Amino acid sequence: MVFPKDFLWGGATAANQYEGGYNEGGRGLANVDVVPHGEDRYPIIAGQMKHLDFDNEHYYPAKTGVDFYHRYKEDIALIAEMGFKTFRISIAWTRIFPNGDENEPNEEGLQFYENVFKELRKHDIEPLVTITHFDMPVHLIEEYGGWRNRKLVGFYEKLVRVLFTRYKDLVTYWITFNEINMIMHLPFMGAGLVFEEGENQEEIKYIAAHHEMVASASATKIAKEINPDFQIGCMLAAGVAYPNTPDPKDVREAQIANQNSYFFVDVQSRGEYPNYALKYLERQGIEIPFEEGDKELLKENTVDYISFSYYSSKLAAHPDNLESQGKTEGNVMGTLKNPYLEASEWGWQIDPLGFRITMNEMYDRYQKPLFVVENGLGAVDTPNENGNIIDDYRIDYLQAHIQEMKNAVELDGVELIGYTTWGAIDLVSASTGEMSKRYGFVYVDRDDEGNGTLDRSKKKSFDWYKNVIESNGEDLTNIKG
Ligand code: BG6
Repeated sequence: MVFPKDFLWGGATAANQYEGGYNEGGRGLANVDVVPHGEDRYPIIAGQMKHLDFDNEHYYPAKTGVDFYHRYKEDIALIAEMGFKTFRISIAWTRIFPNGDENEPNEEGLQFYENVFKELRKHDIEPLVTITHFDMPVHLIEEYGGWRNRKLVGFYEKLVRVLFTRYKDLVTYWITFNEINMIMHLPFMGAGLVFEEGENQEEIKYIAAHHEMVASASATKIAKEINPDFQIGCMLAAGVAYPNTPDPKDVREAQIANQNSYFFVDVQSRGEYPNYALKYLERQGIEIPFEEGDKELLKENTVDYISFSYYSSKLAAHPDNLESQGKTEGNVMGTLKNPYLEASEWGWQIDPLGFRITMNEMYDRYQKPLFVVENGLGAVDTPNENGNIIDDYRIDYLQAHIQEMKNAVELDGVELIGYTTWGAIDLVSASTGEMSKRYGFVYVDRDDEGNGTLDRSKKKSFDWYKNVIESNGEDLTNIKG
């Protein structure tokens, strides 16, 4: 058998796209709540929003998500039926500290997650918990400017202390920040950043990233004090960048693109700013506000494992060589079109071998166990005449990726803790706010404008994944149709 007996098969979600119940249980208003569906979404996630509230013209999908808040028992029963060993959810910060800067946590919020974790444990499912997944109280943005402000480190420390203490015996695997490198691309969701005219946005993003990395190291320290068995991971939006041609200028461009994303894990896993980053920041005139003790904190509190999302590889070219190649979409960062790859309906290129290459790169670089915590295909699902969804396209994608993951483990010796597909149950898309971009094994009756019963039904991939888990990844077969 390729995978160890205790390999953690499962699925992944995030509060802001899944949970809903935005004004229930004493929850405060979060940044993602006020991000609408539609064309105004992009400027907001790029940090151009001024008015952090709802208006009557837009539809706000995070308000309801797909209602995990009320349906968690039903959803957990479904994933238990598939045989999940783990389930990734995130904490809505605003459920625990509605404004972020209170002294006392909100008991109702704490109780909600306790109920969820107990329900998971009842089914022998290991919770995998992201502490922040594109999520923070609006109050922390309005009052403090989000993660650009060092004070956020203290608020985050307070949050994690409460979580680690309360769930000491219910949770083992934690992730400090979802896709920490996304701060450079989705600064509003990643760090609550709103920019003023004329500000040096790059500098602010690096400063906010420094605060998050310090907070992450501090969380690791606090975690080990509370329960030395806790496993703390960082999380990267991964996907290797290839050079577009063998022209060394393109190769160098790809190297820079890869360094730009590994920078975050370099700090969180090796414990110090890498020289290439220090030199770059110096050239840009960006000063990172290191406080006394930061360097030691980062060095002494590195992560236990490296988790990452993988949807696609990227392609990089030197600006001189750019004209000929068209651009395409991909996990928020647009990239060049790779003529060897097919793409999803949203233009995300499909590259299973790139998954194996990415895993090898990361394992070689960090020599720590990896955890794949997102992978999957966003696709439109249309029920057939019998009302069933025959999602062979999704199975094809997952089959090919799991096969390459097996190769990475079996043939390359990569150490891997587990694999959670994105959006095991259909949920709202982070980049577009759509429901029609579906990832789940379970269909949710909801459309892009928020109509629908929210009822759950199984897709064909439900039984397929069940069998994959049952056979511990040995049997990936699918009979089409
Ligand atoms: C990752 C995020 O970037 O990709 C998820 O961690 C997100 O929150 C996922 O949903 C898929 O992206 P999208 O935009 O298709 O929802």
